[in-house]
Amino acid sequence: MTTPTRIGTPLCHSCTRVMLLGAGELGKEVIIALQRLGVEVVAVDRYANAPGHQVAHRAHVIDMSDPIALKALVMAEKPALVVPEIEAIATDMLAEIEAEGLAEVIPTARATQLTMNREGIRRLAAEELGLPTSRYAFAESLEQLIQAIDGGVGYPCIVKPVMSSSGKGQSTIHGPDEVKSAWEYAMSGGRVNRGRVIVEEMIDFDYEITLLTVRAVGESGEVETFFCDPIGHIQKQGDYVESWQPQAMSEAALAQARDVAAAVTGNLGGRGLFGVELFVKGDHVWFSEVSPRPHDTGMVTMVSQWQNEFELHARAILGLPVDTRLRAPGASAVIYGGLEEEGIAFEGVSEALQVPASELRLFGKPVSFARRRMGVALAYGDSTAQARERAKESASRVRPVSSK
Ligand SMILES: Nc1ncnc2c1ncn2[C@@H]1O[C@H](COP(=O)(O)OP(=O)(O)OP(=O)(O)O)[C@@H](O)[C@H]1O
Ligand SMILES: [Mg+2]
Repeated sequence: MTTPTRIGTPLCHSCTRVMLLGAGELGKEVIIALQRLGVEVVAVDRYANAPGHQVAHRAHVIDMSDPIALKALVMAEKPALVVPEIEAIATDMLAEIEAEGLAEVIPTARATQLTMNREGIRRLAAEELGLPTSRYAFAESLEQLIQAIDGGVGYPCIVKPVMSSSGKGQSTIHGPDEVKSAWEYAMSGGRVNRGRVIVEEMIDFDYEITLLTVRAVGESGEVETFFCDPIGHIQKQGDYVESWQPQAMSEAALAQARDVAAAVTGNLGGRGLFGVELFVKGDHVWFSEVSPRPHDTGMVTMVSQWQNEFELHARAILGLPVDTRLRAPGASAVIYGGLEEEGIAFEGVSEALQVPASELRLFGKPVSFARRRMGVALAYGDSTAQARERAKESASRVRPVSSK
């Protein structure tokens, strides 16, 4: 299947149709970017009225980890491109869809297979590509976990289910007496309870970054690699709470970060934007993981870049040129639901938007949880320090309230 060479008219025979698998806040922005380019967009999620459903031409609710349901929907909708937005998808079926030429999978079906499982991407990065990573081992029982730590990973270390995201089932172990509870927690937090974990040496980094890396058709007519400025972020309980761009880095660290990102995204192949997560200490860089799609910490690019990460993804997948330049230093701060309730409301929006150079995104999620990301405040400034203060101030003025 080749890159679409022209764009048709939505809702008629000439349309260029794209299917988003996952329609959360990141998918919603990809959909908006595609809509602006005249693409017909079909949004799929596991629940009704997901953020992206609300801005797509058509919305479907299916279990995307069910291969039969997934293939049936692709055959019914016949998209040119299938664009995964989440990890929990029947990726073996994506490989079949790609192999049978039913649709092009973004960036490639293999990339989605490797990145949905921490073991696949870690072995590729460390063992095949020889990239620097934390020391690691895999375990399938408490005994194996103890052996792995004693046999080289050491303390402190982090245990993660191989199939999980957003920090679910993860814990940090400081000494032998914490191993058992970490194992039990990992067994309860994995997406698919495969009983397998990765244990990683804890890296004592100075800061961590997301290096948004775009594989897009360049002036040469071939796919080339483009980099955005590094994004710094703060994670709490496995979820990002604040991000900013650019993160200052030494020249040597930036060069190494780009080499690592080019190597891993080059191997995964295809076209699209990737979020390469890296740890940095001085001039030293470690590869952590990669999302073959826009990254949550990259929401800051909605204020800090000329083309945000969603527009870059949309352009790249359509075979269009990209421009990854920074527009201004920017920051994002997450707004949590705070409440466990359907159909909540937000007060303080006007006060939040009185913060200079600020913007808000309220995602429109039908149900709020205490720790669910319901929106984000964005701001630019003369410096990232100023932008961060503004974004945090703006976010803090938004109050999720009960509508009962
Ligand atoms: N080996 C490590 N050393 C130090 N910190 C780590 C290590 N692994 C993870 N962390 C910290 O935990 C965070 C979450 O880890 P990781 O990205 O592997 O999990 P995740 O569940 O995939 O998270 P997300 O889906 O939000 O990216 C990292 O961003 C980093 O702050
Ligand atoms: Mg991560």
